[in-house]
Amino acid sequence: MNSAPTPDSAPPQEDTLKKLEEAGALSHFASSIAHEVCNPLSQIVLATDLLAGPRPMTDDLRKKIVSFLRQGADRIDKAMKSMLQTCSPIETSMTAEDANTLIESALASMTLDPSVRVEKRLVPGLPTILVDKKHITETIVGLCANAVDAMLPGGGTLTITTALKTFNTSEREGWQRQSWFRAGDHAVVIEIADTGHGIHKSQMPLIFEAFYTTKAAGKGAGLGLTVAKKVVDLHHGRLEISNQPAGGVLVVLTLKSAAQP
Ligand SMILES: Nc1ncnc2c1ncn2[C@@H]1O[C@H](COP(=O)(O)OP(=O)(O)OP(=O)(O)O)[C@@H](O)[C@H]1O
Ligand SMILES: [Mg+2]
Repeated sequence: MNSAPTPDSAPPQEDTLKKLEEAGALSHFASSIAHEVCNPLSQIVLATDLLAGPRPMTDDLRKKIVSFLRQGADRIDKAMKSMLQTCSPIETSMTAEDANTLIESALASMTLDPSVRVEKRLVPGLPTILVDKKHITETIVGLCANAVDAMLPGGGTLTITTALKTFNTSEREGWQRQSWFRAGDHAVVIEIADTGHGIHKSQMPLIFEAFYTTKAAGKGAGLGLTVAKKVVDLHHGRLEISNQPAGGVLVVLTLKSAAQP
């Protein structure tokens, strides 16, 4: 015979569930931080011990150990910066910028594998966009880096396109529900397409989650898209990621133009 639920066995109330979920997310966050810092830290400790140890070493070996040390430090540095951007408010300084110039400087800052061909289809004479130059350039770099990673080691084509978009009335409802765009608004659309392995549909809902990565340890912290989304939201823009029918991923970044009609 089923007895009536006592207060102890009663199903948790919504706020209790929310608290449990928050605690779960927090502990996942903390263990991911520990993982991102502890792994390269043991790498650093090992390299330092080797350098300080009694073992005689050639210049070549010393250089390899120093580079190993540097990789570990860089990994912690990158993870800590992304974590800070994930957890704390992002400071912005908005200026009117040309999207094509931001793309060129983002690409110039990257060391691209020779197996990756870059195709630029940048429309000249676009209106400027009101953005934080540093954050949007870093966002473009992160999105291009994801595209490149998905094409390695075989290589492929990274296609970057810019275009002007004016929102029309038929799009108004859908866009208004989830964004700051209004009918008649002008925006610049940046598309980043790759010919890589794409994103499995079971992984699609997870890609914006902090610390979600499918990359090998040391290759990705899983914070790039979390920070990118936060930056784009701050700009009242939109970031959409989908698989292309012919393979590879298409990223569409839409940013309001600085001057609106
Ligand atoms: N263009 C892409 N093609 C295929 N998979 C992608 C692409 N962009 C993102 N992903 C998937 O989304 C995951 C999360 O991306 P995100 O940029 O947040 O983290 P990451 O690249 O793994 O690490 P980090 O950016 O912190 O170095 C990736 O690990 C990958 O599985
Ligand atoms: Mg990334």
